[in-house]
Amino acid sequence: MLTTKVAQILDLHLNLTVEEIENYLEHPPRPEMGDIAFPCFTLAKHLKKSPAVIAAELAASIQHPEVTVQAAGPYVNFFFNRSLATEAILTQLNHPDYGKLSIGEGKKVVIDMSSPNIAKPFGVGHLRSTVIGAALYRMYKAAGYNTVNVNHLGDWGTQFGKQITAYKRWGDDVKLAEEPIRESLRLYVKFHDEEENDPTLGPEAREWFRKLEQGDEEAVRLWTYFVEISMQEFERMYKRLGVDFDHVLGESFYIDKTEGIVTKLKQSGLLIESDEALVVPLEEEGMPPCLIIKKDGTTIYPTRDLATAFYRREEMGADEILYVVGAEQKLHFQQVFAVLNKLGEPWAKDCIHVPFGLMKFEGRKMSTRRGKVVFLEEVLDEAVQRAREIIKLKNPNLPNAEEVAEQVGIGAIVFGDLKNHRLNEVDFSLEEALSFEGETGPYVQYSYARIQSLLTKAELTISDRNTDLGDALNEITISDSAWSLLKHLSRYPEYLKKAVRLKEPSVLAKYVIDAAQLFNRFYHHERILDGEPGELSYKLSLVKVTGESIQNIMTLLGVKTPDRM
Ligand code: ARG
Repeated sequence: MLTTKVAQILDLHLNLTVEEIENYLEHPPRPEMGDIAFPCFTLAKHLKKSPAVIAAELAASIQHPEVTVQAAGPYVNFFFNRSLATEAILTQLNHPDYGKLSIGEGKKVVIDMSSPNIAKPFGVGHLRSTVIGAALYRMYKAAGYNTVNVNHLGDWGTQFGKQITAYKRWGDDVKLAEEPIRESLRLYVKFHDEEENDPTLGPEAREWFRKLEQGDEEAVRLWTYFVEISMQEFERMYKRLGVDFDHVLGESFYIDKTEGIVTKLKQSGLLIESDEALVVPLEEEGMPPCLIIKKDGTTIYPTRDLATAFYRREEMGADEILYVVGAEQKLHFQQVFAVLNKLGEPWAKDCIHVPFGLMKFEGRKMSTRRGKVVFLEEVLDEAVQRAREIIKLKNPNLPNAEEVAEQVGIGAIVFGDLKNHRLNEVDFSLEEALSFEGETGPYVQYSYARIQSLLTKAELTISDRNTDLGDALNEITISDSAWSLLKHLSRYPEYLKKAVRLKEPSVLAKYVIDAAQLFNRFYHHERILDGEPGELSYKLSLVKVTGESIQNIMTLLGVKTPDRM
């Protein structure tokens, strides 16, 4: 909002629109360079004068009660009248619609997220997709989009032939009921181990998958059973992560829709036979061909993704489709989108792969095939256990310690993931993520709890708070630490916009860390609960809006903010 103010002031002196001016404005790195700076380089070309001359002329001609203006070389620096600006910022922050944007108005975005595979562990990649996808979902909502998320379960494919074969040979119902995923995984791994010595296993598995695709009763019954027991386990995870889905539509949902795709591709002359399979060549696009129907006549991952894209566009009415899936599937999505393009679908350009990098836990990678995996539930449990121990040390009498431990433990993981640029590879350290100092979830949560405790104390000690903030502010010097915090809080909409544009929750995670740090600096510099009623009232307003802002952003990121910890 400070940039808008400066742009409006400058607008009276320049032949540019307010928006254009706003785009030029900068936030100087040091306070002595002003609150906002206007660089004059671009104007120099048009006005045929040096930037420094333009800056000096502009600075001399601007007279405005809300700002002091100084030229510094090629820059015009604006210093706000802090009292006036503080009143405006606090009023704006207190508005119920603060932080809501309208950039997505009238647009529907479908977000493909989480999408774990049935009968396989919920992997760390699925954790990232869930956490990043859920944050994007809430961010897009806040930006005004009509937002729909879909869990595109991996519930179809030849692996189910293997799963059924392994189950029929070595399955144990009691164990499956007790530990569905672990037991499914044991069967899957055993299948791969035995396959090397037993040449009948492969064909048997293919036969079971063929039967499944044709709706064979036993195959479908066993498949349904695998889906159900896996879902129970996944749902436990979603509940702990606080994630809900508008739709859970696995790959199997699109089986009867793949025929239409094959027909479309045939009619457009895009499909050719290659090694007894049907493919769409993508030579012109510089990619390997997109496999559509395998040798044995069954559909494959890209076929189902093509059917899915059409469904989301035509049945769900998506204007934009985001696929929050690991970077290792880049080629797959490029191929699928290229085929849509070749089909002449103009909306192919609105299908967007939102990739993310690999994540390891304490240096451990995962590989399902060999059965060496990190189970998400174990990671969550361990994080909560560590949080429990820290809380026991720091606050042994906390009444709802168990609830808070869950919020801090899970929050540490979610925040520890989101604070990284999503494409970065992350080696996750629980110890680091759970530290109460540094750029962590618990640090932000702790700052929020400190704010709540201040506000509670204030309620108890301060009765007379009916002072007029505007009048009071005239008499008060706004300290540098308070002013930095206020300026930061006032820039939130700009950060949300950027986070949505880049599809990058880390922009908000970094923003909220800065907010917490600036708050803590303010807290250490000032005696917040002391002072004249007017001053007190202003400081508490600032504390309150800081708390609301932190809570609002943490909620978007999917992290809880306990009042005490
Ligand atoms: N189930 C897949 C996997 O684990 C991810 C699915 C992503 N979404 C999609 N529409 N292909 O690799």
